[in-house]
Amino acid sequence: MAEVSYARGLAGVIADESKICVIDGVKGELYYYGYPIQELAEKSNFTEASYLLIYGKLPTQAELTDFRKELNSQREIPKFIQETIKNFPKETHPMTALQTCVAMLGMEDVPSEKDSRETNQKRSIKLIAQFPTLVAYFARHREGKEALAPKSELSHAANFLYMLTGTVPTDEISKMFDTCLLLHAEHTFNASTFTGRVIAATLADLYTSVSGATGALFGPLHGGANEKALQMSKSIGSVDNVEKWFAEATASKTKIMGMGHRVYKTIDPRAKILKGLLLELSEKDGNNTQLEVLDKLASLMADKVKAEGKEIWPNVDYFSGTLYEKMGIDSIYFTPIFAIARVAGWSAHILELWTDNKLYRPKCHYTGDIDLKYTDISSR
Ligand code: ACO
Repeated sequence: MAEVSYARGLAGVIADESKICVIDGVKGELYYYGYPIQELAEKSNFTEASYLLIYGKLPTQAELTDFRKELNSQREIPKFIQETIKNFPKETHPMTALQTCVAMLGMEDVPSEKDSRETNQKRSIKLIAQFPTLVAYFARHREGKEALAPKSELSHAANFLYMLTGTVPTDEISKMFDTCLLLHAEHTFNASTFTGRVIAATLADLYTSVSGATGALFGPLHGGANEKALQMSKSIGSVDNVEKWFAEATASKTKIMGMGHRVYKTIDPRAKILKGLLLELSEKDGNNTQLEVLDKLASLMADKVKAEGKEIWPNVDYFSGTLYEKMGIDSIYFTPIFAIARVAGWSAHILELWTDNKLYRPKCHYTGDIDLKYTDISSR
């Protein structure tokens, strides 16, 4: 067979064009519709960033007020989904429950190929509004607690934490959590967004496409890494154990969860911001053990890879788990929280793709046999 060149995992392949988000992996920069992530994290919030992603521009005050009202009024999930969640096995992972429920949203609000862009924009807002409720309802069920109805007077972030834990968070925690959502809202052609685009490009509906994207986010090489990163740093325990743990991990070629990235060849700008938030909370509660462990591990990795000419740096999942734990959130909800944020980006990509749709259908380099003679089953 003739020699062919191909890119495993589509590494480096430009599969389409988009105006939504760009990453400079060498400089460690990230922009949503041209706005630097640091500036958005400092001055904006998840609700405004969601508007930016869905409509492609920053809102005026009146537009933001209307958007917030719509978002807050859409939080409750359909009754039949509330009832179904009560019958889910409690041992189900919340990501499996979430993916299932997202697909179920399309059972009542039945989409059609003829639906307008406006209808799908409204559906995107509904998805952003209802993801937190779906996660919180299942969380309460698996913990054997009564589900809590959303409170429309609370912010998006505060309402989720209230529905999950039963306590209205302080303004400081709400603001921090909101920043975490903003940082996770969008990230170009990552595995889950690409999955959503691939499904949407077949002209399957928004719910089906977003449900598929949710499934892709679940994996430990993608959104599932935050849960694993926390488990890792806790199992290391203290800064004195890091060197030994790292030596063993290196010898056994164990991947360090929350490190490495297909695009970033330096520290992920979101990890820098999350580390700052973690430092704030660690100073507040007087416990910086986890932060010390993570810092030491990152510096050992930096020294090792420098010698090998590789670039493996903390990514968005490295500090977020420890930060969420300090906010009192159980690690099983870390990836669902990622989904609560990323649904804004998935929706934005699907809406953008549908303005000029093109089916994704790559080719494959075939390495199997050809032209074999079929043998009858009796003589095999
Ligand atoms: N720990 C140790 N070594 C690593 C790590 C890591 N976290 N990441 C990459 N490497 C090494 C690989 O072993 C490989 O080494 P080799 O060339 O000697 O075989 C080299 O760096 C390239 O790694 P790949 O996994 O081939 O790079 P790829 O671009 O395919 O993978 C990925 C990127 C999947 C994120 C990888 O870095 C990884 O598995 N990281 C851990 C999981 C993680 O944190 N995922 C979250 C990513 S961010 C997100 O999705 C939200």
